[in-house]
Amino acid sequence: MKPRDRLRIAMQKSGRLTEPALELLKRCGLTFRQSRDKLFCFGEGEPVDLLLVRDDDIPGLIAQGVCELGIVGRNVLDEFRLTAGRESEPLAELRPLGFGRCRLSIAVPQEFDYREPSQLSGQRIATSYPGLLGAWLRERGVEAGVVTLAGSVEIAPKLGTADAICDLVQSGGTLVANQLREADVLLESEAVLAGPQSLPADERGDLVELLLKRLDGVIQVRESRLLLLQAPRAALEAVTRLLPGGPQPTLLPVAGQPDQLMLQALCAGEVSWRQLEEIKKAGAREMFVLPVEKMLA
Ligand code: PRP
Ligand code: ZN
Repeated sequence: MKPRDRLRIAMQKSGRLTEPALELLKRCGLTFRQSRDKLFCFGEGEPVDLLLVRDDDIPGLIAQGVCELGIVGRNVLDEFRLTAGRESEPLAELRPLGFGRCRLSIAVPQEFDYREPSQLSGQRIATSYPGLLGAWLRERGVEAGVVTLAGSVEIAPKLGTADAICDLVQSGGTLVANQLREADVLLESEAVLAGPQSLPADERGDLVELLLKRLDGVIQVRESRLLLLQAPRAALEAVTRLLPGGPQPTLLPVAGQPDQLMLQALCAGEVSWRQLEEIKKAGAREMFVLPVEKMLA
């Protein structure tokens, strides 16, 4: 078989990860010829193409070498790693991507007074994640029945086919609608970039390196905020102490107000309302939090 010289990335065809994944790739300078209804999208700028598939198929496609990279939930990747055969190509989580955050959790009916995992002994737990659930139960020495379902896991307790479930929780809406309550967290998940443990030793490997570099820059900028504010010189120390992370702030004079300063600071993460309120209490005013579009330090 002739090795391909173009790189292939698999991602979810339609679902919660689709839009943010496409947006992220676009920010990395990858654009694709529009054919979203199809399986395959041809990359226009770089020699990188997209494969739009069911998310659960992504790890397998990487393991088979059909594609080099995949954007997929950590839950799907880890489940595959636990359940794929030994002969399957080992996969790696190359980067966490910071979107599609959710938890894989045990949920129980409202009347189940859950305090610890041992209470699950002898119970039936419905899940689409038998690998992750099985490992979690084994680590805790709990012997429970694992009922593997492909979907609609949340209705199993009502149907009487399970006593508890192990499923993804994002907003918690699905649990509430089914009179279930989150009882324990197995895994904190988010979208990740997955790939083979050893990258192909040809142009495709170089392309992966290039993409990883761009991705790191994009992620850093995405999480940066520029904070602008005014403060009296006397309050400067108190205000500066409250600034979230990042390099030293820049100070600028305010025309006609010699005792006032304008302060500009790059923050490494989101600035919360609470932080802003505290900074204001310390004497700041005219506060702005701006997203950063591009950065070249
Ligand atoms: C997941 C999960 C729950 C729901 C939880 O399903 O299986 O049903 O999301 O989200 P919530 O806490 O915001 O209500 P998803 O929509 O990803 O579809 P899938 O089960 O077909 O993968
Ligand atoms: Zn799914």
